[in-house]
Amino acid sequence: MDLRLEGKVALVTGGSKGIGAAIATALSQEGVRVVLCARTTAEVEHTAGAIAKATGCETLGLTADVTRAGDVDRVVAQAAERFGGVDIFVSNAGVPGGIGFGPLDQVEDANVMKDLETKFLGTLRGARAVVPHMRRQGFGRIIGIVGLSARYSSAYASERNPEGAYNYSGGPRNLAVIHLMRTLSHELGKDGITANAVLPGATRTEDLDAMLTRRGALLGKTIDTMREETSSMNAIGRWVDASEVADVVAFLASPRSASISGEVIAASGGAGMAVFL
Ligand SMILES: NC(=O)c1ccc[n+]([C@@H]2O[C@H](COP(=O)([O-])OP(=O)(O)OC[C@H]3O[C@@H](n4cnc5c(N)ncnc54)[C@H](OP(=O)(O)O)[C@@H]3O)[C@@H](O)[C@H]2O)c1
Repeated sequence: MDLRLEGKVALVTGGSKGIGAAIATALSQEGVRVVLCARTTAEVEHTAGAIAKATGCETLGLTADVTRAGDVDRVVAQAAERFGGVDIFVSNAGVPGGIGFGPLDQVEDANVMKDLETKFLGTLRGARAVVPHMRRQGFGRIIGIVGLSARYSSAYASERNPEGAYNYSGGPRNLAVIHLMRTLSHELGKDGITANAVLPGATRTEDLDAMLTRRGALLGKTIDTMREETSSMNAIGRWVDASEVADVVAFLASPRSASISGEVIAASGGAGMAVFL
């Protein structure tokens, strides 16, 4: 299937590594000119350069912190200046799992606010900045990368709480983005703009082994045990690769996905046993 993405312009926040870098790569392979942003300049510039070299398609790596409104506006302005507009906005920046952990009496408001500011406000501000460009073109795709914690409450082992502590902001920040996508879909649909949320589950990125080693050490388990336990958590019985999440995003970013808007698409390999979600 020709995704008809050739020549389009995308902005991917948190594009320097992990799922964001995989999305930037997949779009670039389809002929999209991709602008990547992240806080660490050396990493984002390196990734942008590596993708351009691999695909032969122009990229731009920019330093930005999406918790700062000025950074988000600047990145969109720079993207438009360099490539003439923005057709696709993938809001992916965020710390996997979030940072607002319990137990309840230890949840720090500042961490909850930081998670909400990164994902929810980062996405809202990005949408506000890209939509004028999309309206002018009569086409736009807004995609919020959230996570399965929107559907399930969860507890993680961490340095502070080796036994595992409930997560009080990973889910709420993701749900907020899902709600935002639905609202945007209604406000912008008649302008040719769709908005959808993609929910990765446990996803293989370059940081996976380090994360499993860290959590395994807290739980007294080897990395092999951690790999085995975590890979049996979904229907397909293995970790989903970041490139497989990126394939779903590439389709949603394309003109081919016009019938899908305001939806929540899980790319988790079938995690969870519930029938209705
Ligand atoms: N991996 C998973 O299993 C999984 C599962 C469900 C959902 N997700 C979601 O998918 C997204 C990507 O996760 P990942 O695993 O690929 O994470 P990752 O490898 O840690 O990459 C996160 C990216 O976001 C950037 N970033 C973080 N905070 C930022 C900020 N305030 N402003 C700008 N950029 C920022 C990071 O670069 P800098 O640090 O340099 O800014 C990096 O480029 C996250 O939103 C995460 O919640 C991941």
